[in-house]
Amino acid sequence: MRLENYVALITGGASGIGEATARLFVERGAKVVIADLDEERGRKIESELAPNAVFCKVDVSKSEQVEKMFRMTEEKFGVLDVLFNNAAYSLSKTLWDTTEEDWDQVMTVNLKGYFLCAKYALPLLKKSSHGAIVCTGSELGIVGCVESLAYNTSKGGIIQFAKSLALELAPFGIRVNAVCPSGTETPAFVKDMSRSGDYEGECARLIASYPLHRLGQPIDIAKAVAFLASEEASFITGTHLMVDGGYTAQ
Ligand SMILES: NC(=O)c1ccc[n+]([C@@H]2O[C@H](COP(=O)([O-])OP(=O)(O)OC[C@H]3O[C@@H](n4cnc5c(N)ncnc54)[C@H](O)[C@@H]3O)[C@@H](O)[C@H]2O)c1
Repeated sequence: MRLENYVALITGGASGIGEATARLFVERGAKVVIADLDEERGRKIESELAPNAVFCKVDVSKSEQVEKMFRMTEEKFGVLDVLFNNAAYSLSKTLWDTTEEDWDQVMTVNLKGYFLCAKYALPLLKKSSHGAIVCTGSELGIVGCVESLAYNTSKGGIIQFAKSLALELAPFGIRVNAVCPSGTETPAFVKDMSRSGDYEGECARLIASYPLHRLGQPIDIAKAVAFLASEEASFITGTHLMVDGGYTAQ
């Protein structure tokens, strides 16, 4: 499944799932914009993927920065084929511990950020003959779990965002889908699972709950994103693809 001459913008592209997706897209022939807050990591990946990647420092929740990023993308490439809406703010807190600021921060990055990127990407995606948006949801947008109320709520919202936007953009031939990973070994995952001080034990408990008996790797999700972004998925829109080792099939 080649992505020859595709131009893709990947938010959260400097780490974890976004980074793996940027590397896979370039391997398959695409040019990528790595959009991330983390300049040091982003520049490192940009230089490793040169000349097929450009880094853009952005906070996806700030409209003026997002607008500027798509202006830069237009100047550099003239078109956008794929927006991978992926950057997110992860928070593990109960209702009682979640402050109003926490709630706003999660919703601002995870929902408003996806909205702003889709809005400002649209004029460029319309110039493509095969425009596609892929949004990272989560298994936690489908099933509930404790101590993660704001994050899970935002991920449920992302699945609905993808469905409704798919209907709105279908007349332009732009497809919109979501990928929903389960526990995937990325820096964010390792940090979260290390909170109890027993990373190995936490992982073992999680793995025991997955029918395929392993954790996800960033490349597992990247391959699903590449499929949904490609012509192979040209009749697929408004859906969410679980990449969860069978967890939500139970
Ligand atoms: N890792 C998992 O187990 C898992 C499971 C389900 C869903 N997800 C989702 O996958 C996506 C990627 O997560 P990951 O695990 O690769 O995380 P990660 O922390 O490894 O990477 C996230 C990247 O997003 C960037 N970022 C954060 N806020 C940003 C902002 N406001 N503007 C621009 N960039 C920003 C960070 O700098 C970082 O480089 C997220 O949407 C996350 O919710 C992850």
